[in-house]
Amino acid sequence: MLRTETGQTVKLADYSETDFVFKDVFLTIRLFEGSAEIDSEIRIERRAGTAPDAPLVLDGDELTLTHLKLNGRAVAEADYDASADRLKVRNLPADDEFVLHVGTRIVPERNTKLMGLYRSNGIWCTQCEAEGFRRITYFYDRPDVLIPYKVRIEAPKDAAPVLLSNGNPGESGDLGDGRHYAVWDDPFKKPSYLFAIVAGDLERIGDSFTTASGTEVTLGIYTDKGKSHQAEYAMDALKRSMAWDERRFGREYDLDVFNIVAIADFNMGAMENKGLNVFNHKYVLLDPDTATDQDYAGVETVIAHEYFHNWTGNRITCRDWFQLCLKEGLTVFRDQEFTADERDRTVQRIGSVRRLKSMQFPEDQGPLQHPVRPGEYREINNFYTATVYDKGAELVRMIATLLGPEDFRKGMDLYFQRHDGDAATIEEFVKVFEDAASTDLSRFALWYHQAGTPTLTITEDYDASDDRYTLTLAQSLNQGAAKTGTEPMLLPVKFGLVGPNGEDRAVSASRGGDIRDDVIQLSEAEESFVFENVGGKPFLSVLRDFSAPVNLVHAQSEADRLALARLDPNPFNRWRTLNDLVGERLAKAGSQTGDQPTDPLGNELVGSIVETAGDDGLDPAFRAQVLNLPADMEIARLIGANVDPDRIHAAATSAREAIAAKGRSVFERLLNATPADARFSPDAASAGKRALANAALGYAAVGEGRPDRAFERIGNASNMTDRQAALAILVFRFPDHEMTQRALDIFYERYESEALVLDKWFALQGAAPGTATLDRIEVLYRHPRFTLKNPNRARSLIGSFAGMNPTAFNRADGRGYAWFRDRLLELDAINPQIAARMATAFRTWRMLEEERQRKIHDVLSGLANMPQLSKDLRDIVDRTLA
Ligand code: ARG
Ligand code: ZN
Repeated sequence: MLRTETGQTVKLADYSETDFVFKDVFLTIRLFEGSAEIDSEIRIERRAGTAPDAPLVLDGDELTLTHLKLNGRAVAEADYDASADRLKVRNLPADDEFVLHVGTRIVPERNTKLMGLYRSNGIWCTQCEAEGFRRITYFYDRPDVLIPYKVRIEAPKDAAPVLLSNGNPGESGDLGDGRHYAVWDDPFKKPSYLFAIVAGDLERIGDSFTTASGTEVTLGIYTDKGKSHQAEYAMDALKRSMAWDERRFGREYDLDVFNIVAIADFNMGAMENKGLNVFNHKYVLLDPDTATDQDYAGVETVIAHEYFHNWTGNRITCRDWFQLCLKEGLTVFRDQEFTADERDRTVQRIGSVRRLKSMQFPEDQGPLQHPVRPGEYREINNFYTATVYDKGAELVRMIATLLGPEDFRKGMDLYFQRHDGDAATIEEFVKVFEDAASTDLSRFALWYHQAGTPTLTITEDYDASDDRYTLTLAQSLNQGAAKTGTEPMLLPVKFGLVGPNGEDRAVSASRGGDIRDDVIQLSEAEESFVFENVGGKPFLSVLRDFSAPVNLVHAQSEADRLALARLDPNPFNRWRTLNDLVGERLAKAGSQTGDQPTDPLGNELVGSIVETAGDDGLDPAFRAQVLNLPADMEIARLIGANVDPDRIHAAATSAREAIAAKGRSVFERLLNATPADARFSPDAASAGKRALANAALGYAAVGEGRPDRAFERIGNASNMTDRQAALAILVFRFPDHEMTQRALDIFYERYESEALVLDKWFALQGAAPGTATLDRIEVLYRHPRFTLKNPNRARSLIGSFAGMNPTAFNRADGRGYAWFRDRLLELDAINPQIAARMATAFRTWRMLEEERQRKIHDVLSGLANMPQLSKDLRDIVDRTLA
């Protein structure tokens, strides 16, 4: 049995099947104002081999049992124990099959954890992943128990005219007394974490989609009253996702209906419940006046992600929660591919790599490090991490790169064919690719088990007399806390030898290991490749498209790198070359004591950035990415030790000023090229133009020290993208200017009643750099519109302060840490999952200089000593301290 009681460690090695087999379940859920009654009728069989006297032990969490019957008769008191978190039934009948009736009563209105059944804006809704179903009724709440569910919901007609659950709708009708009911039937076997109901007074937009085999699917998106027109883009994204999954992976939808519900209070982004996806409304609701291009892209991604889970997650689910990356890593890979196909592949890749480096690398290099498939956990909700999701996606991407598109598709087809209906494991996933491509992936599989970011060291040697080029690659894994092994792994290194006119030379290695097309299949600790007659010294473009999630060490001259930034036929690497150069320079300047250099980047690099930004032959979105310097936190990671966030900030500020000065005329031109009143369309090309113009505005305002240019834009912007970008320029570049406060006030007045826009307003202020920020945040924290109960709002101010504001959070006097600790404690009493997530802001604390480390250590050990901490928060605090 897997146990997850408080403080107990769950281990993968302890996995065993349940003692009893569930056959199916019929749930009756009666919703009332102030309470809900759940009646669960489970058909159960003793598993062959289970001892005749073995008790049935079911999971619960904060439950109250109201009745218990076995085959229609009340169970004698002596034959069961019921506590809030467990139901144990003894002396079960010897016959093969029996029916257990379990009654529970819960109070959704008091469920501030937002796990299980709760109410949001009056709407009853559920979140069951990972272990929320046990907060509704006693159950085998684990992903390897797959059964059909039938659900009957009864509710007051006025508060809940709409009643939804998984699967297909069945009968519905009136119950008298102002109440009604609806029955839903899900023919697909599923684990409890995919169960959902929604009941409320909702508005709907409808559409339909005809699958490749001709089935018409009814699509619905439900929102709060008055908001459904904001769901149109989400509906469009849904239909495009359905079509893409058919084209790219041959996957069709499998029920007659597919519903999405937008909910205001939601812990995560969204949830892939079978046929009834429940979303944080932030990932559904949009219009040009309230949402940015980034929001549009976010909605598209999350809609696609949850839809794709129908095959990678629902039809094939996880055997246990250690296998979480089986569905999450794979589904993130799929949504990334969708975005690459629907928008632009290079820009998409740049975005994923930025995210990986800023979220996953720090996690993998600090105390919260864990393998993509962990071996143990204390609280599974703390493992919905960048490592499981984003590094997990990188691993699938590496398989695709190693195998090539045809064999990768064959492997995926085999996966769907072999494991449809299964609760599968990572071993089974890797096996399908070994079988499809007749290859050995055992060295690759280590990526799932060995934590940490490997270092890939490149050395080159060119012998002019023989026109011979030798390339040496070495991998090493300097692990840290996890102690999960450091064996050499198989990884794909995509490369090209570039000539002076920007052509990839056709070369093949005369000596060395495995190269397929332009991909080196590196599997040893060190390998060398010799290329003869290369036609003169080439520029090496390596790790193209970031083909493996590694730290790259490559001593290449600045001249070569700047040449590649112009010449490289691989556009991703053009961006990476510049971005890496900027990162290295800022890391150097940011770790220097004494006076800051006024131009940390150097004239050549600044010139190259400005030149790229001004090159109209390149995609505007790409140019905007070049202008977007690595975040301060990325620089901190590159420095690695004894970090002073103020110095990094100062270095980045001078770098921006240097770019602004040099690019003055270019930015002026770019700024005027996009009229502010252009009609808004959310497509990728238009978004790219806006991103470039707004980046140019930022540099123009900084270069001339003119906040009024951004202030003016706020006034005449015709959409939220431009308005928010201008406000961000004021907040980030002119945090203490009076104009910034004025702009914030104007923005507030206009959007006071738009929850998602107010989140942006709080978030910007939480992220404003400088020591003065904390005083303002303390005031904002008491703002009438601020509340800890709504996760988006809590994250907007506190999350952005602790997670995205290195200078203010890391104030030298430690006040930022103390304030944050007090907020964590308040939040923990309301919603432990959100508190634990926010506490990961300390994950890089050991990189800081000593004084700040000492202050954080005091805060963390103070927290560790508090008896009232939730197990969620305690788990993060303990691991961060360890
Ligand atoms: N499966 C959801 C997703 O697509 C995440 C839900 C996680 N929820 C939680 N409470 N841990 O990515
Ligand atoms: Zn997911």
